[in-house]
Amino acid sequence: MRWRSLLRYAVFASITSVVLTSVLLLRRPEGFLRDKAAGYFDYFWNQTPTHPIDRLITEAHAQHEKLLAGHRSHNISSAAERYRQRRGRHPPPGFDAWMQYALDHDAVVVEPFFDRIYHDVNPFWAQAPQITALRAASWYHVVRVRDGKAHGVGNTEHKVAWLKHWTDLVAEAAPHLPDVDMPINYMDESRLLVPWEDIDRYIKKEESGRSLPPKEKVIKTYIGLGDLDAVLNDTKPYDPAWVRPGKDSYWNLARAACAPTSPAREVKPIANFTEPPLFAEDWQPEFSYQGYVRNFTASMDACTQPHLRGMHGTFIEPISMSTSEELIPLFGGCKLPMNNEILIPGAMYLTDDPFYSGGDTHGPPWAEKLNGVVWRGVASGGRHKKENWSHFQRIRLVQMLNGTTVSAMEENNSRAPTFEMPPLGTYDIQRRRSGTLGTWLTQFADAGFNNLLCFPAGECAYVDPYFSEVESIPMAEQYRFKFMPDVDGNSFSARYRGFLLSTSLPIKSTIYAEWHDDRLVPWLHFAPMDNTFQDLYGILDYFTRDQKGDDSARFIAEMGREWAAKALRREDMLLYVWRLLLEFARVCDENRESLGFVDDL
Ligand SMILES: *[C@@H]1O[C@H](CO)[C@@H](O)[C@H](O)[C@H]1NC(C)=O
Ligand SMILES: *[C@@H]1O[C@H](CO)[C@@H](O)[C@H](O)[C@H]1NC(C)=O
Ligand SMILES: *[C@@H]1O[C@H](CO)[C@@H](O)[C@H](O)[C@H]1NC(C)=O
Ligand SMILES: *[C@@H]1O[C@H](CO)[C@@H](O)[C@H](O)[C@H]1NC(C)=O
Ligand SMILES: *[C@@H]1O[C@H](CO)[C@@H](O)[C@H](O)[C@H]1NC(C)=O
Ligand SMILES: *[C@@H]1O[C@H](CO)[C@@H](O)[C@H](O)[C@H]1NC(C)=O
Ligand SMILES: *[C@@H]1O[C@H](CO)[C@@H](O)[C@H](O)[C@H]1NC(C)=O
Repeated sequence: MRWRSLLRYAVFASITSVVLTSVLLLRRPEGFLRDKAAGYFDYFWNQTPTHPIDRLITEAHAQHEKLLAGHRSHNISSAAERYRQRRGRHPPPGFDAWMQYALDHDAVVVEPFFDRIYHDVNPFWAQAPQITALRAASWYHVVRVRDGKAHGVGNTEHKVAWLKHWTDLVAEAAPHLPDVDMPINYMDESRLLVPWEDIDRYIKKEESGRSLPPKEKVIKTYIGLGDLDAVLNDTKPYDPAWVRPGKDSYWNLARAACAPTSPAREVKPIANFTEPPLFAEDWQPEFSYQGYVRNFTASMDACTQPHLRGMHGTFIEPISMSTSEELIPLFGGCKLPMNNEILIPGAMYLTDDPFYSGGDTHGPPWAEKLNGVVWRGVASGGRHKKENWSHFQRIRLVQMLNGTTVSAMEENNSRAPTFEMPPLGTYDIQRRRSGTLGTWLTQFADAGFNNLLCFPAGECAYVDPYFSEVESIPMAEQYRFKFMPDVDGNSFSARYRGFLLSTSLPIKSTIYAEWHDDRLVPWLHFAPMDNTFQDLYGILDYFTRDQKGDDSARFIAEMGREWAAKALRREDMLLYVWRLLLEFARVCDENRESLGFVDDL
């Protein structure tokens, strides 16, 4: 008896103390999440992780702090030193002016933030420098730097102004750049899919050639492109063999660029898309923790997720396709992890167009926001048709946020054309159990297409029973909502930077890599979502089930906004492209093995 009452007392006491602690902590003054980020974690998260996302948020925060503490450089000598350690070479000539600009503009210089550059450029160390240089210079659209000035070259009539945006950016660094050419991809889609075995050979060659020659053997100036310029006017653009639409399925080309041991390599394309998409049964990938994405980079990779061939427009019917299996120098704003373009910031991130960014508005403070999720856009993401529409990502997202559809599924215990209910074993949420998810979404979600983009145009009978077009909402007004899912269109979503800079919480899923990936941390700067979207309801539930969830959402929204304003500025995009062009100029230089910056030694 005594033990029992003692036990009862102990349980009562611990519950009371948890409740009291929560009440006290949650009643801290406005803004405490931002000002006292570290304390917030120490006092709250570490002690009561009651949901997998609690743990992921804690981890993300720790991981980011560790990276900054261990890798951030504040002067040229430590930046150069870290460079040598990580890259196994001397920095390229011009590294000092680059670092000086970074210091003058308070940029966060963390060497791993530039890993992507080396991933993209390293294969070219296996090719002859003169060939890479000539192919780059003679391409159809080029940002050309000569004598410290940048020019856009190529016919852009009737085309979007990307060449201009990129040229304007490069022009800011041009006085400090060697002569160099940046050939750019003018298509939405990425274009190079070099078979894995070839890339593997190139990378190994680069690795084995790395060295740190002694200071006195180092050449400090680029050879320049005079020889090349003498023949350039008579040189036609180099076109490798292009695979055009209808020749082969995109999936077949893509999987050849996956490692031989990867799950996707031997998986054939889906022959008949009339059937609704099949979700991988009990999908618990290594990159996730109890159903929620932990490693966002890994989550983008279709090589480990063959089911994505039936769940993403890129692999079903891309709008345009013109792909090569040969490695040529080509720069672009996004690519699949298995593509071989060289990434630069998307041109849309360089415009002030409010369509992409929302203009100067970043949304009201959290407390004044509508508690809801908003999505607007067109049904792009490939060309959907009667026979295959149910496999496209945007269509799936909008259907999953349609309360009417979800209520019908709950009532009839059925699936929708684009998705099945996520497994209750992994996503055990109260609204599912009580069959009120649909009712809740009806008031919580405002998602729809402002153009269904049916094919053939205007013939929408196949989607009419499931979707209706709705009025668009300007980006600035969408920021009135707390939650903003962001998924791929024909390629990456150019709104993402605007979302990050807003006071709302981006919920992000993508199969496209971008320049900024190494500097964004999932669950700290944004909420990551699996490309199946099977975790969508779980994520929304976590952020809305209680005060802790709402605090977490606000915390991530604020941290993301603050970080984007510090690390995704135009200055940061310039620094990325600047460093990239120093590397690219070096890999195009005959003396590349000896070329370097050693003034700090
Ligand atoms: C550069 O930074 C490193 C590490 O922060 C520091 O140890 C070193 O003294 C600094 N060097 C100079 C020249 O300021
Ligand atoms: C190439 O053409 C440009 C423009 O027509 C001209 O200015 C330049 O002098 C030419 N270069 C050579 C080496 O002929
Ligand atoms: C594709 O599957 C649907 C439904 O199972 C079937 O009616 C149709 O005949 C199939 N099409 C082809 C080309 O096999
Ligand atoms: C995430 O996955 C990528 C690609 O699979 C891997 O290279 C990286 O080391 C992983 N990151 C972490 C923090 O585990
Ligand atoms: C999508 O459907 C259309 C038929 O409307 C077909 O021509 C196209 O090949 C389909 N895509 C794939 C990959 O099956
Ligand atoms: C459930 O299914 C029945 C029979 O197919 C259908 O008549 C009914 O409209 C469905 N309920 C909802 C809410 O869609
Ligand atoms: C939501 O789904 C219903 C059918 O379940 C459909 O009639 C309606 O148009 C959809 N709403 C939107 C905005 O697409």
